[in-house]
Amino acid sequence: MVSTYPVKVQPSGNQYLSPSQDSTNIYPNQQLLPLTARVNRDDFLEIGGCDVTKLVQQFGSPLYILDETTLRIACQQYRDTFKKYYKGESQVLYASKAWNCLAVCAIVASEGLGIDVVSGGELYTALEAGVSPEKIYLHGNNKSRDELTLAIESGCTIVVDNWYELHTLVELATTNTAIRIMLRLTPGIECHTHEYIRTGHLDSKFGFDPNDLEEVFAFASKEPALNCVGVHAHIGSQIFELQPHRDLAAVMVQWLRDAAKYNLELTELNVGGGLGIKYTESDDPPSIEEWSKAICEVVQEACAAENLPLPKLLCEPGRSLIATACITAYTIGSAKTIPDIRTYVTIDGGMSDNPRPITYQSVYRAVVANKMSAPLTETVTVAGKHCESGDILIKNAPLPKTEPGDVLVVMATGAYNYSMASNYNRLPRPAAVLVANGEANLILQRETYQDIIRQDCLPERLK
Ligand code: LLP
Repeated sequence: MVSTYPVKVQPSGNQYLSPSQDSTNIYPNQQLLPLTARVNRDDFLEIGGCDVTKLVQQFGSPLYILDETTLRIACQQYRDTFKKYYKGESQVLYASKAWNCLAVCAIVASEGLGIDVVSGGELYTALEAGVSPEKIYLHGNNKSRDELTLAIESGCTIVVDNWYELHTLVELATTNTAIRIMLRLTPGIECHTHEYIRTGHLDSKFGFDPNDLEEVFAFASKEPALNCVGVHAHIGSQIFELQPHRDLAAVMVQWLRDAAKYNLELTELNVGGGLGIKYTESDDPPSIEEWSKAICEVVQEACAAENLPLPKLLCEPGRSLIATACITAYTIGSAKTIPDIRTYVTIDGGMSDNPRPITYQSVYRAVVANKMSAPLTETVTVAGKHCESGDILIKNAPLPKTEPGDVLVVMATGAYNYSMASNYNRLPRPAAVLVANGEANLILQRETYQDIIRQDCLPERLK
């Protein structure tokens, strides 16, 4: 049987795509394409009212195309469902390691979200984007003194990971104002995800060991240089089950209770991120609303049981906020058919703009932007252009018959693609455009060969 792309038919077109965006229960993390994806009369894919093939003509390829509407809707859904299900104060932070750049920080902040940063570079970007320092939280298991100083001077909250950092902060505290911190603890919760992106189990490099809990609380409660406001934990990423997050929320409320024994009044509880997204038709993650509801309910129930006041509840999703909002458009070039084995179709990017398949064996789906209703008659392997056999973006991709010049779109590339991109083989990193209402604005320039050698130094004697 000849199939076509597994997306829903639009009145204007003849293809898959997510349902109409004005429907309130459409969650970006459960879709394959951005919410504004449409097929136009020419059978071409449009995102944010822009024809993807025309964007490639204008901006070149590979090209990250970020749909502002999808990103904003995901922000609003997180923000509004926390407000809906939680009776106390709440604050959603965007885990900007998923994609940190000025435009993304500015959009997310304009929706009322705060930002989680994990390095001086991410912190600097968030500050330059105009994000208010009260809404910035600095993470990291080995923050440098410079990074800590930048955080202290700018007035953001530091999520302290270990004893060394706790002592360093006491040393760095110079003013009369105590440094605002939270404590990151390892909750000892297992979840089913790739071992590289699991962080909540006991054998994790992140956070204080739970056996040290009382000692850490005792230290923080006596240290006038530190204003310890709460606890933080994160169990992992791309998680499809709600139970580990429910367990986490319950464990964390116990920590609030334990802290009270040391007269440490903790008013903030941050449950981290981790909600999964749909990369393929078979992925079935819970919705943003189901996740938020589960967490809010457990925190409320556990606080009621312990007779504790409701803390300010924070979470910090990355992937589920931004992944689906972005696609990567490539131009197809050479192909190689090995009879009875496979056909390789090569694109003009690869592991340097999307290192996830080679790093985590992540599976992606693709469509051909200029052949949206053509029957999917081929099964091909989409190869990148890097000098590395493992540089394969998609194995066994069902595609229509392709030819050089076709525009291949890989879906759900908003998270951990640009942010993990490299210059391997000295490929310039791609440009990114923000699309909305038929307009496209550059948010990241394409690197040039001059950029590629910008940091190179040629000692005089080699000239
Ligand atoms: N908070 C903390 C402390 C984290 O370590 C992370 C992710 C998040 C929040 C956001 O998690 P998310 O909602 O995005 O699942 N590069 C990997 C993912 C690494 C995740 C690292 N920490 C990947 O491409 O799958």
